Amino acid sequence: MYTSRIAGMGKYVPENVVTNDDLSKLMDTNDAWIQERTGIKERRHIKKGDGNSTAVMGVKAAEIALDRAGISKDEIDLIIFATLSPDYYFPGCGVQVQDMMGIHTCPALDIRNQCSGFIYGISVADQFIKTGMYKNVLLIGSENHSGGLDFSTRGRGVTVIFGDGAGAAVLTRSEQEGHGVLSTHLHSEGKHALELSLKGPSTNHWVPQIIEENPQEDIPYYPYMNGQFVFKNAVVRFSEVIMEGLKTNGLDVNDIDMLVPHQANLRISQFIQKKFQLSDDKVYNNIQRYGNTTAASIPIALCEAWEEGKVKEGDTVVLAAFGSGFTWGSAVIKW
Ligand SMILES: CC(C)(COP(=O)(O)OP(=O)(O)OC[C@H]1O[C@@H](n2cnc3c(N)ncnc32)[C@H](O)[C@@H]1OP(=O)(O)O)[C@@H](O)C(=O)NCCC(=O)NCCS
Repeated sequence: MYTSRIAGMGKYVPENVVTNDDLSKLMDTNDAWIQERTGIKERRHIKKGDGNSTAVMGVKAAEIALDRAGISKDEIDLIIFATLSPDYYFPGCGVQVQDMMGIHTCPALDIRNQCSGFIYGISVADQFIKTGMYKNVLLIGSENHSGGLDFSTRGRGVTVIFGDGAGAAVLTRSEQEGHGVLSTHLHSEGKHALELSLKGPSTNHWVPQIIEENPQEDIPYYPYMNGQFVFKNAVVRFSEVIMEGLKTNGLDVNDIDMLVPHQANLRISQFIQKKFQLSDDKVYNNIQRYGNTTAASIPIALCEAWEEGKVKEGDTVVLAAFGSGFTWGSAVIKW
């Protein structure tokens, strides 16, 4: 039986740093509020004219990941692209990446699972590799949030949290049992779909209707988030799905060498860390510098943890995410 392992990772964030003080010039907010509630100090935003888009940033991260994996673009069997902020309504970013990188006619699949998108992507890649159907899968998570946020005071409860960036992983076939992706665990609960959502434009709520209604509140083309409800659900689901992953593999919290939680909010990560009594060196957070980059947050954080030597050969690494849908999931990896 084959297993899959992460052979290389890459990340890209735009150069443009946006501090909390920068945001407070655009809306009624302040550094103290943002840091106290979220831990975020700054994030990156695409700057008009810098050439970046969700797909372009994805390509930049993917090129690094492929290089580090020592795998050429011609060896890719499947492209998976996770994002909630694609360049186009359709087609997806996966085929854009294929074109930009000059990749042959392998399949390209977009995943629309928001903050859990990268975990869902690992799971899909893992299934294809395990069955022997594909050998090398390029998995990308990338977001251009800044292009679609409300920078007036009205949007402050959402806008201060999110940032732009991309991360990528190359998953490849391995025959070493007990190594690589040990298991993945996916969940969703659609009854809470609208608690964290962007309703339009959509086929239900198309552009002429929005123009005609010209709403001043509950604006469908800006994201809506019921922050406290999301927070309460997140801490429960993160805990559950991490435990599910550990139990499946006969492990417990003491076996975790590195937990890389989706960077939703530093307070959520700290809650989980405290609950599981994990020391600081066993939880990786970088939301302070990048904000919440949704589908890109786990690959950016995992890539940085690896670059800093904090994820090493033989480590038990747990990834976990929760977000819009609601969707959540975890992956247990023997590095
Ligand atoms: C969004 C979040 C930080 C808000 O924190 P909170 O403590 O719940 O704050 P509230 O929404 O209750 O708002 C408290 C007050 O701060 C105000 N406020 C909201 N955003 C603000 C901002 N950026 N700056 C200053 N004040 C702000 C609100 O208007 C409210 O004012 P009021 O008391 O006068 O009505 C928090 O709910 C959260 O992190 N939720 C989870 C979000 C998340 O993880 N999302 C991603 C999931 S993948």
